[in-house]
Amino acid sequence: MFSRKPQTSPVEILSPLPEVFRSVLVSMYNGEPQLGSEGEPHSLDGVVRISREQGMWLYNLCRETRPKATLEIGLAYGFSTAYFLAAIHDNGLGCHTAVDPFQSHWHGIGRRQAKRFGMSDNFRFIEEKSQPALVHFADRGEIFEVIFIDGNHRFDDACVEFTLSAELCPMGGWIILDDMWMPAIRKAAAFVRSNRMDFEELKTPVSNIAVFRRIGEDIRPWYHYEEFFDPFDMRRLIRRLTPAFLRRRAKAIERCVRL
Ligand SMILES: C[S@@+](CC[C@H](N)C(=O)[O-])C[C@H]1O[C@@H](n2cnc3c(N)ncnc32)[C@H](O)[C@@H]1O
Repeated sequence: MFSRKPQTSPVEILSPLPEVFRSVLVSMYNGEPQLGSEGEPHSLDGVVRISREQGMWLYNLCRETRPKATLEIGLAYGFSTAYFLAAIHDNGLGCHTAVDPFQSHWHGIGRRQAKRFGMSDNFRFIEEKSQPALVHFADRGEIFEVIFIDGNHRFDDACVEFTLSAELCPMGGWIILDDMWMPAIRKAAAFVRSNRMDFEELKTPVSNIAVFRRIGEDIRPWYHYEEFFDPFDMRRLIRRLTPAFLRRRAKAIERCVRL
């Protein structure tokens, strides 16, 4: 008999978090209206958030690595911010910076989070587009050990955000791309994987994120360029180019092997 791994309930997943973070996140994931900057309740758009599994992965990463400074691009309602702040709370150190030029679109809900958690001293909000904000951080010599990219999700913007973030990421630091379900983000991750030898990719059991860790200096010559392919596209292309009768035969063999 095959035994299935027991499923962890949504509330159980959040159980390692301190009570205030857990209860706010449960309320947000349940889609309960949240207070905006004017103190008025607003309903949430249910797709604008990271999953509990992604959030707990970020929390655990920050618990293990104890970063002094973390950064995220894309605040929205502040789901990811809550996990970063929970880790800072439990570590007893750190400051989290969130960059988002459109907080008013989200009624200022994300911006309120730090106050709700009593963590205003450990939170900085920058109301600016990611690209100028990242350049300004570099001008000031700021570094961030963990950088979470969850901004506007266009391929070219995600590549620029990674490139600028790499300048702010110390050796051993982490850059995480969210939303690997999107072709644009998968392509950006494929570019990094093939071209940025100063970063290694780490596999995680959590879906929808690509995780890169800085392991060296960027010593590429000025003419450097490696072709890059999204493995998902490659699989689709191979499937499309394989004649139907061969695909059927491969499926039949696969079925036999499974029996
Ligand atoms: C998917 S949401 C982020 C969700 C958030 N990380 C969470 O888990 O709750 C994307 C966010 O990126 C912001 N955004 C869009 N364009 C941006 C840009 N150029 N720079 C920074 N943030 C941007 C949007 O306003 C939105 O808040």
